[in-house]
Amino acid sequence: MLERTLAILKPDCIRKNLIGKVISHIEEAGFKIVALKMLKLTPEQAKAFYYVHREKPFYSDLVNFMTSDKVVVMVLEKENAVNDFRELIGATDPKEAKEGTIRKLYADNKQENIVHGSDSPENAKIEISFFFPESELIANQM
Ligand code: TYD
Repeated sequence: MLERTLAILKPDCIRKNLIGKVISHIEEAGFKIVALKMLKLTPEQAKAFYYVHREKPFYSDLVNFMTSDKVVVMVLEKENAVNDFRELIGATDPKEAKEGTIRKLYADNKQENIVHGSDSPENAKIEISFFFPESELIANQM
């Protein structure tokens, strides 16, 4: 069964001119892009998106980083999309990420780690609706 997940190409990805390379990895891994847009998060949006981390020591730095430049948000679709995308991006800290993962290849550290991926199917639904109205989530032709 097809599943959807939310990906964000973070400000470091945009600054390093890696949008195309990262999207190539994503497409080569079999994900279909259902929706895609570039935007600059407001501090309110970044705080709301990472609300679960509000008590963490890294929260305000994370919000500052996520609002430091534009981001690309995407809805990706494939079987087992949530878990497979987490595998493709690798561990939060690139030092711990497996060889060949996007974070291992391109990320500098655990804050500037190039890409976000939803961590559960439930959160994927919430995160997708955070950025995309139903009218922008048009099913791809098979
Ligand atoms: P988390 O949900 O733990 O990781 P992931 O992005 O792999 O799902 O954390 C969310 C983001 O918070 C993470 O991508 C970068 C930032 N972060 C830090 O800046 N410092 C940290 O120590 C951690 C754990 C996360």
